[in-house]
Amino acid sequence: MKPAASLQKRLGLGLTLGISVLWLIATAIAGVVVQHELNEAFDSALEETAQRILPLAVLEIVNREEPRALQHIASLQAHNEYLTYLVRDNHGNTLLQSHDADPAIFNAQPLEGFTTSATHRLYAASALRETVFIEVAEPLAHRREAAWETSLALLLPLLLLIPLSLLGTWLWVRLSLRTVLAYRRAIETRGAGDLSPIKAAQLPAEINPLADAVNHLMERLRRALDAERSFTANSAHELRTPLASTLAQVQRLRREAPDGPLQERAAQIETSLRELARLSEKLMQLAKAEGGGLLSETPQDLLPLLVHVVDDLRRTADVPLHLQLPRMEAVLVTIDPDAFAILLRNLIENAMKHGASSQAIEVSLSSTALLRVVNAGPVVPPALLAQLSGRFVRGNSQAEGSGLGLAIAKTIAQGVGASLLFASPAPGKPDGFAVSVQFLPA
Ligand SMILES: Nc1ncnc2c1ncn2[C@@H]1O[C@H](COP(=O)(O)OP(=O)(O)OP(=O)(O)O)[C@@H](O)[C@H]1O
Ligand SMILES: [Mg+2]
Repeated sequence: MKPAASLQKRLGLGLTLGISVLWLIATAIAGVVVQHELNEAFDSALEETAQRILPLAVLEIVNREEPRALQHIASLQAHNEYLTYLVRDNHGNTLLQSHDADPAIFNAQPLEGFTTSATHRLYAASALRETVFIEVAEPLAHRREAAWETSLALLLPLLLLIPLSLLGTWLWVRLSLRTVLAYRRAIETRGAGDLSPIKAAQLPAEINPLADAVNHLMERLRRALDAERSFTANSAHELRTPLASTLAQVQRLRREAPDGPLQERAAQIETSLRELARLSEKLMQLAKAEGGGLLSETPQDLLPLLVHVVDDLRRTADVPLHLQLPRMEAVLVTIDPDAFAILLRNLIENAMKHGASSQAIEVSLSSTALLRVVNAGPVVPPALLAQLSGRFVRGNSQAEGSGLGLAIAKTIAQGVGASLLFASPAPGKPDGFAVSVQFLPA
């Protein structure tokens, strides 16, 4: 899957790019307008200059002793001329020229009005019935420089605008998404099983419906899980009661029946009923393990649960049960207390049923939420060991059972994200069986 794009990055880049493009278009338009206006201003200056100089030049030439002689106008002070001029007669003879004027840049024959050569803009005017012409030239480079400098002045702000726009959008989006980020944190920090509504302060209007929808969904999920939980619990209860009363009836029948075939048949029925009761119990446990309510809304302390289950089982056990607990106040895990009890019960019952009765069963819980149940007994071959957690899979044990205990334990472990491992022989021992469950500490 493609990684999700950041809104901040998208908006920052998009807006900056948009602003830059608009700015460039505006600069281009402004450049064209400025160039047009500059040309008009320069042309008018050129025309003005020609018409100012021409009468003076004519006066000067007419008053000369030798009007046809060329004369350079000496400059008062050394300087570079932007405007140069040439005064010629109608035969093309130069009568007067400004001190920097280069005759090569002027038209061979003066043409009245404006003309443009490759390098210069020229303006020509005439006097004395078109016998004296003045032509004033201005380098085009001068105009280009003016236009270029204006455009540059318009472009320069972009250098500042781009980083400012990026930073501004980044900050603004971050500020606007503050409540969304808080909402994300609220979801991230809550427990995996917590289905209470998420409280979000003032989300943006676009996201608020989403938060409402999530809360509705969680509410529905919560109701479905509650219904499922109560259904499993009720069914177990409903089944248990008639089974127990039938069993009691059969036991009474057996006691009252005379010795003989009836007595034997009653005993068979009793055994079958016990098996049925056990199987229905295990099926209920499996149903619960497969349901969705394995995670608790708040982390549960495993220590009191463990002590309670072990104490309960000790009463019926023929084998001593050793319990080893960490020196800690609490071991917190997000697991439904009933689910934990079912898992633990199955593991300890197995150790009691299938393990050697000569040695104690060791139950331990570490501070890192590692649960271990170890018992002595014959080694289980590796090929069988790998299959024990399958449904209705039984080992070489003589004890009664349906082969569902480890399947239930595995399903619960998977449902709460714990890992379940079997080892035979038990680590550090010559024989026996060890089960370890590593829960995720809350
Ligand atoms: N602690 C143990 N020591 C030795 N063998 C075990 C132990 N736990 C399980 N086994 C082997 O794994 C098999 C499967 O165990 P599982 O709990 O799934 O079924 P079960 O105990 O036979 O029946 P059920 O639990 O449904 O009453 C058992 O039949 C037994 O051979
Ligand atoms: Mg079992």
